[in-house]
Amino acid sequence: MTIPDYTLNDGNQLPAIGFGTYPLREETGTQALVSAIEIGYRLLDTAVNYQNEKEVGEAIRRSGVPREEIRVTSKIPGRHHGYDDAIASTHGSLDRLGLDYLDLHLIHWPNPSVGRFGEAWRALVDLREQGLVRSIGVSNFTEGFLERIIAETGVTPAVNQVELHPYFAQQELRAVHERLGIRTEAWSPMGKNPTPFHEAPVADAAERHGVTVGQVVLRWHVQLGSLAIPKSGSPERQRQNLDVFGFELTDDEMAAISGLTRPDGRRFDADPETYEEM
Ligand SMILES: NC(=O)c1ccc[n+]([C@@H]2O[C@H](COP(=O)([O-])OP(=O)(O)OC[C@H]3O[C@@H](n4cnc5c(N)ncnc54)[C@H](OP(=O)(O)O)[C@@H]3O)[C@@H](O)[C@H]2O)c1
Repeated sequence: MTIPDYTLNDGNQLPAIGFGTYPLREETGTQALVSAIEIGYRLLDTAVNYQNEKEVGEAIRRSGVPREEIRVTSKIPGRHHGYDDAIASTHGSLDRLGLDYLDLHLIHWPNPSVGRFGEAWRALVDLREQGLVRSIGVSNFTEGFLERIIAETGVTPAVNQVELHPYFAQQELRAVHERLGIRTEAWSPMGKNPTPFHEAPVADAAERHGVTVGQVVLRWHVQLGSLAIPKSGSPERQRQNLDVFGFELTDDEMAAISGLTRPDGRRFDADPETYEEM
């Protein structure tokens, strides 16, 4: 399956859909990861806090696909935001993965009450210069946090990985990313608790295009320019989730899906201004 690429603001490329790896662990997790690589995923999203970097590295080696054909993302946790801690954290990730560079490395959460994400960002800038990390980015950053690290270093993140799904279309933040030249990456791209699969704009579009509801949601991401990283432990759903490049949603279908709201009115899972992820 051929997956189109996005070109980042640093000239590097990432596939338009990647593979979420949380909470895949141990032997069953490794097998699900090998399956995803065999099916055609070429971007794997891990993190220190997922405790599965070892499994991701093992799956890459087991798959037989050359390392340079696979993009690997990891993330620095909140407890490693100090400059030296962020450097050591990255070496730890590389050791567990068994790799000598990361394709994309992110600050997992800003943790503003700790107030040290600027140090972690400076560490990432230096790690990129040393060649240990190819692209650097952030996750769960608001406009204010993005503006702060850019002003402090002159370096704009290549990616901001944020919660984004039909119940939380993130119109304002996506416009900020567009203005700053940052690629939007979507976590929980399907929209959990609950999923929006039963909603008429999703279910009707699936019927009209002869695809599954999951494929409609992922196609919506592609047309938004959002890099979705769906997780699935099932080879069947892994395959479906990559097979979204053979149909197109209309402008009306896109707008109807973007306009969905959760039945309980809740907009998102966690607020980056207050959430603490250590
Ligand atoms: N940066 C952050 O703060 C952050 C936060 C959360 C997640 N993430 C990353 O984002 C990735 C994805 O997020 P997520 O795992 O929360 O949510 P998700 O990928 O949107 O949803 C995963 C769930 O949807 C099911 N699913 C997958 N494909 C499906 C399909 N086609 N039809 C029906 N159900 C389907 C999966 O079940 P099966 O496995 O049974 O298919 C699983 O229960 C994570 O794995 C992680 O890498 C990052």
